Amino acid sequence: MEPHPRHLPPRTAVDEHRYAVLRDLVADGGVVVLSGAGMSTASGIPDYRGPDGMRRVQPMQHAEFAGSAAARQRYWARAYTGWERFAAAGPNAAHEAVARLQAGGVVVGIITQNVDGLHQRAGATDVVELHGNLARVVCLDCGERYDRDQVHDWLAAANPGFDPGTVGEVRPDGDVVLPEEAVRSFRAPRCLVCGNDRLKPDVVFFGGSVPKDVVDRAFSVTARADMLLVLGSSLQVMSGYRFVRRAARDGIPVGVVTRGQTRGDAEATVQLDALLDDVLPRLVRDVVGTRGAAGAATS
Ligand SMILES: NC(=O)c1ccc[n+]([C@@H]2O[C@H](COP(=O)([O-])OP(=O)(O)OC[C@H]3O[C@@H](n4cnc5c(N)ncnc54)[C@H](O)[C@@H]3O)[C@@H](O)[C@H]2O)c1
Ligand SMILES: [Zn+2]
Repeated sequence: MEPHPRHLPPRTAVDEHRYAVLRDLVADGGVVVLSGAGMSTASGIPDYRGPDGMRRVQPMQHAEFAGSAAARQRYWARAYTGWERFAAAGPNAAHEAVARLQAGGVVVGIITQNVDGLHQRAGATDVVELHGNLARVVCLDCGERYDRDQVHDWLAAANPGFDPGTVGEVRPDGDVVLPEEAVRSFRAPRCLVCGNDRLKPDVVFFGGSVPKDVVDRAFSVTARADMLLVLGSSLQVMSGYRFVRRAARDGIPVGVVTRGQTRGDAEATVQLDALLDDVLPRLVRDVVGTRGAAGAATS
């Protein structure tokens, strides 16, 4: 038997009746996906909450990051150390299935709460990244943007001989826990344009807000939906949950496929407590498998 991958919640049997309801809704098309951290656990990136809905790690807070040079120094030391491993994570079968559902014309929009870019790496297009992407860096003072790889190279040059000591596993924010001694000697990055040291990964930390144009784009995507399909999200974060509320209010069916309970279960037309790996590849076979030829003929 294959070992159960790290970070994956325990497997549970798929409820066949609920699966059939979900499959029929998805087969009608017009599906907008709203994905969360559960999408990437099989890629080795941990989620914040497991199936019990409890937060296991303390994520970075926006106000602390923006207001404290020491917090930024700690973040960058940890993120520098974790970056190569985070960036090495690749898409898994769930990302591939979503990309195939999109290519097959069944999925018409993808909104993700993830910051790992893995939907796109699996071939999905027009992904609305609600919480940004760790592969970009933004200056909080002048708004200049940088590639994370470029910032990583500066950090390598500015911190020769940096020794993080023994490093634990990568955390959901793409960083690793480091001892304070290792952090104290670390030189954080500075903006080339304004010279300030308030460079932030271009992601929305807890307590930060999603830019208005991104929210507007996400709402315009959901307005076109015939179904909202939540994949691997506890929906504890309001910036994702509000799309479920909007869909339910507008009478758009909501499907939830997530291991454990979610905050959106009450609004869901069908809720499937299952691993994405056990559901999405099967959905592709059942839904796109039969429409593949038609999809190809119209494109
Ligand atoms: N990969 C990433 O980019 C990443 C990772 C962690 C957190 N985050 C950020 O943290 C916030 C957390 O909210 P969230 O709702 O996305 O995540 P969450 O951690 O609150 O919830 C994840 C949910 O997915 C379930 N799950 C985990 N693996 C699964 C699998 N293989 N199949 C089915 N279900 C699975 C868990 O049981 C849990 O209910 C987001 O805003 C996001 O920005 C991002
Ligand atoms: Zn700047």
